[in-house]
Amino acid sequence: MNDVLRQLQKIGIVPVVVINDAKDAKPLAEALIKGGLPCAEVTFRTDAAEESIKIISENFPEMFVGAGTVLTPEQADRAVAAGAKFIVSPGLNPKVVEHCIKKGYPVAPGTATPSEMEQAMSFGLDVVKFFPAENNGGLSYIKAVAAPYVGLKFMPTGGINATNVRDYLANDKILCCGGSWMVKGDLIKAGDFAKIEELTREAANIVKEVRG
Ligand code: 3PG
Repeated sequence: MNDVLRQLQKIGIVPVVVINDAKDAKPLAEALIKGGLPCAEVTFRTDAAEESIKIISENFPEMFVGAGTVLTPEQADRAVAAGAKFIVSPGLNPKVVEHCIKKGYPVAPGTATPSEMEQAMSFGLDVVKFFPAENNGGLSYIKAVAAPYVGLKFMPTGGINATNVRDYLANDKILCCGGSWMVKGDLIKAGDFAKIEELTREAANIVKEVRG
């Protein structure tokens, strides 16, 4: 496991964020840092993603900012050039994974089945995203499927919230959890960064409570 993934393990919860307007990147990063989760997966679903990553990485070097929803090698290059420290994707696209490995980008591809997990392992990866986590059976599925894959760690994302995140974090197969509950689009749109900070603090406190 590389240093970036180790950092993600330490932070525990990765806020998954959709930024529609790059002007929101700065106040959002400030709220996440003040709230105690200096980390974000900025999804490549909007035109503002690349610029937002650049703004965050340039202004807040202490932030572990990565790119999510990376669907092509070209997006991975753009994300890293903008300052992304890790790449996450919803599924396992061999072209994206191969490219990231070749370039030395830390990558966590999405998986949901044993075959996809084995495919990730065949690329030499020891961390995968599990997506969409709750729809695919949640923690009980991870416990069942992880048994043969000693050493494989998971980053469950999708349907995780302030209530169910505790059980995930308490399990030693979980590297960290991804989730958008503290950075919901309506809060960003309303400019309610105080609420984002409050929800982030609550999430950070859960990490402390569960993992010490
Ligand atoms: C996503 O890709 O949007 C993430 O999986 C976030 O899922 P969530 O909104 O259920 O936390």
